[in-house]
Amino acid sequence: MTQETRYITTPIYYVNDRPHIGHVYTSTLCDVYARAMRNAGHDVFFLTGTDEHGVKVEESAEKRGITPRALADENAAVFQSIMKMFSLTNDAFIRTTDPRHESQVQTLVSKLLASGDVYLGDFEGWYDQGQEEYHTENSARELDYKSLISGKPLVRATEKNYYFRLSAYQERLEKLFSDHPDFVRPSGRCNEVLGRLREGLQDVPISRTNFSWGIPMPDDDEHVIYVWIDALFNYISALDLGEEQSELGKYWPVNYHVVGKEILWFHAVIWPAILMALDLPLPQCIYAHSFWISEGRKMSKTLGNFIDLEEIEKYIDVYSMDAWRYYLVTQGPLGTTDADFAAEKFHDVYNAHLVNTVGNCASRVTAMIEKYFDGVVPSDNGEIFAETDWKTICGDAVTCSLNAMDTFLLQEAVESAMSIVRQVDLFINTTAPFKLAKDETKQVELGAILYQCIEALRIASILLHPVIPVKMDELHQTIGVEMPSQNSAATLTWGGIQPGTLIQKVALFPRVEFATTE
Ligand code: MSP
Repeated sequence: MTQETRYITTPIYYVNDRPHIGHVYTSTLCDVYARAMRNAGHDVFFLTGTDEHGVKVEESAEKRGITPRALADENAAVFQSIMKMFSLTNDAFIRTTDPRHESQVQTLVSKLLASGDVYLGDFEGWYDQGQEEYHTENSARELDYKSLISGKPLVRATEKNYYFRLSAYQERLEKLFSDHPDFVRPSGRCNEVLGRLREGLQDVPISRTNFSWGIPMPDDDEHVIYVWIDALFNYISALDLGEEQSELGKYWPVNYHVVGKEILWFHAVIWPAILMALDLPLPQCIYAHSFWISEGRKMSKTLGNFIDLEEIEKYIDVYSMDAWRYYLVTQGPLGTTDADFAAEKFHDVYNAHLVNTVGNCASRVTAMIEKYFDGVVPSDNGEIFAETDWKTICGDAVTCSLNAMDTFLLQEAVESAMSIVRQVDLFINTTAPFKLAKDETKQVELGAILYQCIEALRIASILLHPVIPVKMDELHQTIGVEMPSQNSAATLTWGGIQPGTLIQKVALFPRVEFATTE
């Protein structure tokens, strides 16, 4: 059987910023998907990286008296180190200063020049200096002529520039959106893009002359390629699609470009139009999440509610890396509303989901097997108790969870896995093995109940592995389960644990005192 491919990307991060919850969030979502798809037996490519050109990097470097290259090297290393720190399993890390990327961008832009999709002309528009982004009259008016991000006034700017003929793709883009309602998700975001698209598209400038830290336009050194165009190409240059031959080309088209809401337009409109111009297949889906706010307010350094790496480390120290990942994935802004990061809520979710549900269930089941069967997994005898048909319950939850992962419904995927754990708890309460243990004639029944509990827990733990990998590895070690690095799909069928396996009691998520991490 040929393996299916899955390709997922994060945006590439600006090197003039330090990593914070926003970057870690997008990367963690992609990591959960990548891990789940590998577990499902797919051939996965998970890409992340850094966006290193542009006037902002040039200016920051100048202020510090170093070269832009030195600044980029320094901060790209910080972004690379967080991949390890958060156990993010990216397959590649692209840097836009990588000569392989630079040469492919020039090749691809040359193709666009040759096809007439890029041309030299004059441009006037509303410019957001912080975001290095032009706005049309309509969108500038909607923003009250201020930057959405910094609040600073937009400036009227005129330039001689190379343009991308975006207007020529109006109809094809509208058709793309109506033929593929899932092209942009969630659907609320899709409607926003479609609304703006229907206002009409203008050609967009794709070069700059006021600074030099960028990739030169082919055959015109006066212009550098606009940082956003340079950056978007990373998704295909990382696969060598701008080269003659590409072994990684099998991963294109991408399954998910995961991005934040503020950069959706570039990904949902400009990028597909460029791909159309290059005759390349289009992404399957652009998934735009919303923002984390913090303690009810927009994150800001001056308000003191900014969740930077230092702050994140405090949570990891107190609650564990897996608790951090779990909170981000299950409580994060995957939909169209922003999500609040609040210390108290973090603590409550940790207790309710991890301590009292996963942790408690695992310790209850393993402790009973240790106490009543000396740690040896008893046998099932195919009994069905309290109308709890575990084979069906687990089979259904596995199907739901795997399908949800594949369609990037990460919260639903986790919820299906958690539903198994909750049912194990309920099952223990209704069948009361601790009572049966007191009756010697009920040993077979007791064994069957506990077998079913540990087996259901094993299946749930494989489904939860992409989100809480460290703790699930710990559980697997104590219950003698080996998690294959690729394709654990086969291990999701009922009956994986062999009676006779020696297990140990496990304590996964300790109770911790609530203390603000101040
Ligand atoms: N370099 C561009 C992307 C180019 S992709 C071809 C960029 N970089 S960024 O460093 O600003 O990182 C953007 C990512 O961080 C986005 O996914 C964005 O949504 C995320 N976040 C930044 N702040 C955020 C929050 N407060 N909450 C959630 N994510 C947010 O844009």
